[in-house]
Amino acid sequence: MNLTLHVWRQAGPNDKGRFEKYEARDISEHASFLEMLDILNEELVEKGQEPIAFEHDCREGICGSCGMVINGVPHSKQKAITSCQLHMRSFKDGDEIWIEPFRATAFPVLKDLVVDRSAFDRIIQKGGYVSVRTGNAVDANATPIPKTDADAAFDAATCIGCGACVAACPNASAMLFTSAKVSHLGLLPQGQPERYKRVEAMVAQMDQEGFGSCTNHGACQNACPKSISIEYIARMNRDLMKAKLLGSKDD
Ligand code: FES
Repeated sequence: MNLTLHVWRQAGPNDKGRFEKYEARDISEHASFLEMLDILNEELVEKGQEPIAFEHDCREGICGSCGMVINGVPHSKQKAITSCQLHMRSFKDGDEIWIEPFRATAFPVLKDLVVDRSAFDRIIQKGGYVSVRTGNAVDANATPIPKTDADAAFDAATCIGCGACVAACPNASAMLFTSAKVSHLGLLPQGQPERYKRVEAMVAQMDQEGFGSCTNHGACQNACPKSISIEYIARMNRDLMKAKLLGSKDD
């Protein structure tokens, strides 16, 4: 198939950036979206032009690095997939595709489609871990965990930190990401000792990074490639309220 691409090109963080038009020719419907960009980049390099910068690693929906906005939607209009899991069979011959980076003040554009998502790392550094000495791996049945809690913790833990929730939110809120990270530990016995200290510290860092607040649009859960529910935001808010009442003490 032949496609017309409008790709955001930006030489660096201080460049204004603009859309540039490219023709992608003879693209197989079996190619992935990133392979289509690889083919275009090879042509650009052959012509002596600068290839389009985009991030990727696993190319199978695990690492969360490949986020981009495709036709106005983070990771495209296809539900529950990352940009690397999108295939060209989702498009028709002659389609025009608009490709741009995730847009948020807290995710500054580094180059073309690559944004700096280190704000997420700094939120994790404030408490997205269990710091007690865990020693050797214990028997799986040594700490009984109700199935409903284990399932809810696992659903939260599927967050790959891609940032689509931020890009989709009109407030560029990171509450879905932060609540998933807070909840997957807060739901488990191992996460209890630091539960309330954790939520306060991670939410404070989220605010400091310049992410907006949640106003219940729900766009984040629609864009999330792992279908994480905004119920985790409500759970995080309840924990935050309890943390304030406890006066920052762990219980
Ligand atoms: S490249 Fe890893 S999730 Fe897309």
